[in-house]
Amino acid sequence: MTLITLRQALDHAREGGYGIGAFNVTDIEQVEAVLDAARRTKSPVIVQTIAGASAFASDELYWDLLLRAVDHYPDVPVVVHLDHGPDVATCKRAIDAGFSSVMIDGSIDHKTGVANSFDENVAITSEVVAYAKERGVSVEGELGTIGGSKDGASHAEIVLANPAEARDFVERTGVDALAVAIGTSHGAYKFTTPPDSTVLHMDLIVEIAEKIPGTHLVMHGSSSLPPHLREIINAHGGDLPESWGVPEEEKARSTKLGVTKINQGMDSHMAYAAAMRTALAADRLAADPAPAASAGRQAMSELIAERMGVFGQAGRSGDYVAVPFREPAALPLD
Ligand code: 13P
Repeated sequence: MTLITLRQALDHAREGGYGIGAFNVTDIEQVEAVLDAARRTKSPVIVQTIAGASAFASDELYWDLLLRAVDHYPDVPVVVHLDHGPDVATCKRAIDAGFSSVMIDGSIDHKTGVANSFDENVAITSEVVAYAKERGVSVEGELGTIGGSKDGASHAEIVLANPAEARDFVERTGVDALAVAIGTSHGAYKFTTPPDSTVLHMDLIVEIAEKIPGTHLVMHGSSSLPPHLREIINAHGGDLPESWGVPEEEKARSTKLGVTKINQGMDSHMAYAAAMRTALAADRLAADPAPAASAGRQAMSELIAERMGVFGQAGRSGDYVAVPFREPAALPLD
């Protein structure tokens, strides 16, 4: 098994009654962390990345390495997904590079930060779907606005998804999956107290799932922000403020309500950063960053393996029969 589409993976998840983690990666060690965790736990997996948000100067080089890394894991069903494509051109770039799935985030104009109208979102999303479908690639759209940002530099306001619009959006665009804003936000700053139903609107999942049974729901901003990782980071020079994320049990519950794709970036990055900072502090003569990056990779892989158990994808790769999106590249694999 190798690269598969988001539609294949999520249909399989729905049939099996489980969720699949979509893990954000910003460097090639992180790609290895995710794929290793998937191999160890026998999980199908979604590896996702945001354009321009990696340690590489060029998306094209990074994306190429990412896709080639997948070929080293022929036993793992993998979706390579563009997260939060800001415009049609970026989505086309990822599709042309070989991604098997893209997200077009048409809910806001990413240059101005101003919300797009429903019709503007439909138009942008439809253009991506038309290009993707010709090439067998899956598409995720967004309804409502998920708050926060990966880098903390900008803070999109949360606009909850409107269930009344969901069916119309899906019928007019033909998306395979829909990111629904239910009160979560991206990044390391989410809720100021443990979230209850007044801020985390799990009820919306049920309402929307009923309206679009053929479309997969995606939960963004799903990190839990483990306090012990924040403490390690802060004990080694960090200054992350106290914040609450999405409890593990709510993520597991979401997969029973209609969510099949669970996006997680910050928890993985906190695990990586905590281990990296600890390793660097323990060796004051360290000049080569590789040992610290290796410690980060291993810690990230452990955390992801645990989450794969929570989401239910662990142990599911063996019964996979999906047709590969493309054959593995001709690599000298050993
Ligand atoms: P977190 O920032 O909560 O990890 O969410 C990631 C995400 O939703 C990426 O799209």
